[in-house]
Amino acid sequence: MREEFLDPGIGPDPVEEELEQGLRPRALQEFIGQSELKDHLSVVLEAARRRAQAVDHLLFAGPPGLGKTTLAGIVATEMGVQLHITSGPALERAGDLASILTKLDEGDVLFIDEIHRLSRQVEEILYPAMEDFCLDIVVGKGPAASSIRLNLPRFTLVGATTRTGMITGPLRDRFGLVVRLDYYDSSELQEIVERAAGILGIGIDAEGAWEIARRSRGTPRIANRLLRRVRDFAEVRANGVIDVGTANDGLAMFGVDDLGLDKVDRAVLSAICEQFSGGPVGLSTLAISVGEQPETVEDVYEPFLITQGFLARTPRGRVAMPAAYHHLGLRPPTDQGSSDKGVNRLFEQ
Ligand SMILES: Nc1ncnc2c1ncn2[C@@H]1O[C@H](COP(=O)(O)OP(=O)(O)O)[C@@H](O)[C@H]1O
Ligand SMILES: [Mg+2]
Repeated sequence: MREEFLDPGIGPDPVEEELEQGLRPRALQEFIGQSELKDHLSVVLEAARRRAQAVDHLLFAGPPGLGKTTLAGIVATEMGVQLHITSGPALERAGDLASILTKLDEGDVLFIDEIHRLSRQVEEILYPAMEDFCLDIVVGKGPAASSIRLNLPRFTLVGATTRTGMITGPLRDRFGLVVRLDYYDSSELQEIVERAAGILGIGIDAEGAWEIARRSRGTPRIANRLLRRVRDFAEVRANGVIDVGTANDGLAMFGVDDLGLDKVDRAVLSAICEQFSGGPVGLSTLAISVGEQPETVEDVYEPFLITQGFLARTPRGRVAMPAAYHHLGLRPPTDQGSSDKGVNRLFEQ
């Protein structure tokens, strides 16, 4: 059941995508939170508008569900240009990218989601396209092969990635602006929940919105999903309006705990604390023991658990922090002092 509503998701999911479409802010002003990012972006967009030029290439990095795709749409809308959407895994061959590039109009936005998953071959076509707005096409085979150079319109590449570390240096250097999205705080998420409730025609009071917000793992996509699930719960079990009581009961029913951790979050922590005696444990072993893909554990679950101080990555694997034991109602091991010392020792080796 969790998969349906909590997992912020790495790849595109058509059903989710449609539900989210209607909730996506279209203008920068409607985009809640991330104020520093919005400041930078609005200057970049305004400067490009004044010069009547395409915006510099932009790279958005951060965990799933924080607004990267939304921002790509906002850039296109604010500039009054077309948005073309593709993704790293969808661009298998150089020709796939070439055919998209040749369809662009002056100033258009090309959004490449999961850009860290581009093949080397495709990435190499992208370099001259980003830098010189041209495309080198090889015609013919063997000794008779020759290459022709096509000029492309000046376009804006917007890349999104959950892994900045996996973007190659040469690709990263070709972006004019690289921005990281951070987890949202609860009051920003409350605003997001209230805005979504307004659009979906859901009755909710401020305390109800706050309760959902503070248990959404800092992630707008999860906030919107929890809102929809709690709405269902409120319609079936209560009078249809979400207050703090229905929010609490609904969230508990869906396995979201007081800090917003879901079943997989807790499974990750309890695997490290109990099965692997606090760690260190390698990513793939951990992933197997909770029945998820390593990338999902690494991109979706760990970043939040790390920011909350439950888990740490060390050169030898993942370790549980004292807060993880407390949250699970377990006693932290005492023989090595605190787990903090454990982490330091690992780094020193
Ligand atoms: N800053 C924001 N303000 C309001 N809604 C947001 C914001 N960021 C994300 N959302 C909502 O969360 C959902 C997921 O955002 P999305 O851009 O698809 O995330 P990502 O591409 O980073 O995975 C969207 O439906 C959007 O409505
Ligand atoms: Mg996205």
